[in-house]
Amino acid sequence: MPAAASTQPAIATSGPSSSGASREARIATHSHIKGLGLGDDGLALPAAQGFVGQKSAREACGLVLDLIRMRKFAGKALLLAGGPGTGKTALALGVAHELGHKVPFCPMVGSEVYSTEVKKTEVLMENFRRAIGLRVRETKEVYEGEITELTPTEADNPLSGYGKTIAHVVIALKTVKGTKQLRLDPSIYESIMKERISVGDVIYIEANTGAVKRVGRSDAYATEFDLEAEEYVPLPKGEVHKRKEVVQDVTLHDLDMANAKPQGGQDIMSVVGQLVKGRRTEVTDKLRGEINRVVDKYIEQGIAELVPGVLFIDEVHMLDMECFTYLNRALESTISPHVILATNRGQSTVRGTEYEGTGSATGIVAPHGIPLDLLDRCMIVRTLPYERDEIREVIRLRTKVEGHLIAEDALEKLTDEGIKSSLRFALQLLSPASILAKTAGRNEITVDDIAETEVLFMDARRSARNLGAGVFAQPKQPADPAAAAAAAAAPVPMETS
Ligand SMILES: Nc1ncnc2c1ncn2[C@@H]1O[C@H](COP(=O)(O)OP(=O)(O)O)[C@@H](O)[C@H]1O
Ligand SMILES: [Mg+2]
Repeated sequence: MPAAASTQPAIATSGPSSSGASREARIATHSHIKGLGLGDDGLALPAAQGFVGQKSAREACGLVLDLIRMRKFAGKALLLAGGPGTGKTALALGVAHELGHKVPFCPMVGSEVYSTEVKKTEVLMENFRRAIGLRVRETKEVYEGEITELTPTEADNPLSGYGKTIAHVVIALKTVKGTKQLRLDPSIYESIMKERISVGDVIYIEANTGAVKRVGRSDAYATEFDLEAEEYVPLPKGEVHKRKEVVQDVTLHDLDMANAKPQGGQDIMSVVGQLVKGRRTEVTDKLRGEINRVVDKYIEQGIAELVPGVLFIDEVHMLDMECFTYLNRALESTISPHVILATNRGQSTVRGTEYEGTGSATGIVAPHGIPLDLLDRCMIVRTLPYERDEIREVIRLRTKVEGHLIAEDALEKLTDEGIKSSLRFALQLLSPASILAKTAGRNEITVDDIAETEVLFMDARRSARNLGAGVFAQPKQPADPAAAAAAAAAPVPMETS
């Protein structure tokens, strides 16, 4: 046990977000979902919090939510089964939202576990830890206020006759009670530049680490725009120099990574550096064990609180026997996140069993391609295909969220498309249609735009039919006989369903 762990940790202020950009993008299409849209009686409202229809599935998820809150969901998992585009991912996200602000949501796809570099169970373990949050509370000595002055003072570089260096920086901080001028080390100026802090921002500086955190823009600078990226905060009360309770949310995965690649600095990475000493480049089981032990200690001391989030495994039938066994075990762990699985398969072969048992090539066939012992732990919720009205409502919602205008008849046409192919396909046509409209100099999407996108893009069925009918077929008999042989040897497998 590292010695540093016994003292209070210097908890970082600006933690890196645990989810990479690709994870963000994966849930961007669900940005209209704000919860499950249930009433106080637990019944689904026809349209609320971005959710339309799919009532019984939403109510079932609401019940699971109650179980989670009563701590009766341990060791279990929620399985969402239903066709593509029926809102499985949206439901999982809704559950995560309902659990509260800052509760981690970690989406992954079953096939993500297959990598040549990392073990399958390692990938699963990493995602489990991404879905477990830690909320750390600490009282710190800080200087907080709105910046009224920010002046770096330059000095001649003593090493070379030319360049200049920053000797120190003078910052004036203002609160309701008063103003204080601070003379700070140049290293703090660097982090100020990094966070793009300027006059008019409310910041706080930790007294003992010098970490700088931007709270937001002072609301004296607020503009009249309704929608802005900026967060406005009131002028802090009290003195500039004070003790302040700082709350920080990190995931266990953040801690793992921070310890694996120690970096200097004053963000969450420094927590890490304090937890476990030594330079590591890889997250090992031993490292995780050490972090768990330190985390346990913090929890015991009341400094930190565990926040189990949601791990969402989409296309769960893509996992294999080894992963399912691991899942079974992980679900029983005391620090398991809430696990939601999703699949669009009915009876199928459990991956990784193909050559076991009977020696037949088909392997063990099970519902949803999930072995029975895991299925036993699952509460299964079915999602049903949408009605016309529901599809229209979802499309209307998305047009609003994405900031498009759409003509009523165009909306009808898109709804038709949603019924013919899928809700997702209809939603996907929205963005290209809006680009077509803009190119034509209109700001409203019309029927013509929709018709044009339909010509440009095909849904799966039309595309497959075209291939089957040989619309895209290459000219027969290539001149090169070797190529012809190769083509014959590798027929393209096509799914017929
Ligand atoms: N009931 C619903 N209310 C509002 N939006 C929905 C609903 N169901 C699905 N959506 C939206 O439709 C799109 C496709 O749904 P998705 O959850 O990705 O389906 P699945 O995961 O079942 O394939 C997403 O953008 C989703 O947010
Ligand atoms: Mg999905």
